[in-house]
Amino acid sequence: MGKIVNIFVCQSCGTVHGKWAGRCDSCGQWNTLVEEVPAQNAPKSGKRKKTRGIDFVDLSGTSADVPRIDTGIEELNRVTGGGLVPGSALLIGGDPGIGKSTLLLQACGTMAKRGVKTAYISGEESIAQIRRRAKRLDMADAPVDLAAETSLGPILDGLMVNKPDVVIIDSIQTLWTDLLGAAPGTVAQVRACAQELTRYAKKRNVCIILVGHVTKDGQIAGPRVVEHMVDAVLYFEGDRAHQFRILRAHKNRFGPTDEIGVFEMGEKGLYEVTNPSALFLDGRGESVCGAVVFAGLEGTRPVLTEIQALVAPAAFGTPRRAVVGWDSGRLAMVLAVLEARCGVSFSGKDVYLNVAGGLKINEPAADLAVAAALASSIFDVPLPSDSVVFGEISLSGDVRGASRTDARLKEAAKLGFKQAIAAVPTRTSSKKITSQLTIRAIKTLPELISRVEALAEAQ
Ligand code: TYD
Ligand code: MG
Repeated sequence: MGKIVNIFVCQSCGTVHGKWAGRCDSCGQWNTLVEEVPAQNAPKSGKRKKTRGIDFVDLSGTSADVPRIDTGIEELNRVTGGGLVPGSALLIGGDPGIGKSTLLLQACGTMAKRGVKTAYISGEESIAQIRRRAKRLDMADAPVDLAAETSLGPILDGLMVNKPDVVIIDSIQTLWTDLLGAAPGTVAQVRACAQELTRYAKKRNVCIILVGHVTKDGQIAGPRVVEHMVDAVLYFEGDRAHQFRILRAHKNRFGPTDEIGVFEMGEKGLYEVTNPSALFLDGRGESVCGAVVFAGLEGTRPVLTEIQALVAPAAFGTPRRAVVGWDSGRLAMVLAVLEARCGVSFSGKDVYLNVAGGLKINEPAADLAVAAALASSIFDVPLPSDSVVFGEISLSGDVRGASRTDARLKEAAKLGFKQAIAAVPTRTSSKKITSQLTIRAIKTLPELISRVEALAEAQ
């Protein structure tokens, strides 16, 4: 066999180069050349071999439901849409040290104890390190097949013999294949290894879970193409300063993408959090100016969080707008609507917004809670501590109802809240909820502001 000569393909325009260069001559883009193995079996001439053709079927045929492997971890099942799917590839991304290896070793151990054949292949930690972690997680006796390896060839050969149902690769960035000359961790290596592993998963009907590290700007280091190759992409996020971690689906071919799983990092690994609202509201004291509880929805689950705003005179120059846990564009919009429709001016004032506990909210229904927090801070009056707020604000200053109002109200009532400030159409809320919660219906933003002003006057 002759030596394989690799080619370099521009990821922007597709031009093939014989040598690597920093800049593509053809389109002028920088840093877009990626090493590839040329297709060995490509037909030499332009003539195509005749094939049998594809078989067409009806849309209305019966297909068996996707079978699932129960991971034994309810929160993980929820995010994957009911468990792992055989013959699929899953990517779990997250910052280093957030707990990806812990979660997967725990899942692996739980599944192995339930009779699922699992393999855990680590390219980052030694066998001794993993054993130590397993001991800490009380998983030392789980029949998991463990290996420390980074070369793809031996891994695939080993898997062919071992035939597991679930394989964990920790992490995709440490793998390399000798088909490419590039160093491990480079785009070309990561892509080639991910491709090979997904092909293996489909062919052998195995569920493969790849761990990927995320760079500072939130991308999975190396190629985003891995995201396209796999069937599901989950992100494990959270603040290292906080104990809880959130597993969020970004793409899922077999389930919803808006579900979250909540965990708490403890002495013996990750614990499932079945009631996230209680966790996020933990440590909340008496009513404070600028703090408002938002009744949100994460996937199918209502989650209450505290939104905190601080409006302070700007020390110098351009006022600051700092946001943690919410979209800064959305804050600018709420500020503009408050200014234009309610005459509340934030010019010359710094505005800080924080979602307590480190949760990231991306629901538009948080608009009203943000506006209420801002108003509470600027008028220097606390909102009643037993109230929750939600609703979407439009540019005209109208407040729209949010989806699944009843679920939000029910969660608020369950946690002992007594009032809801929201755009709730009275006919949709059930009698049972209105008997537990007083609904202060808000139709426009000026209504909210006059309510806060009235509170300030009564103070
Ligand atoms: P790890 O799973 O190694 O993170 P990743 O694989 O995402 O890089 O998590 C390591 C962190 O978790 C480390 O800071 C210690 C902490 N930890 C606990 O607090 N409790 C535990 O039981 C374990 C195993 C880890
Ligand atoms: Mg790790």
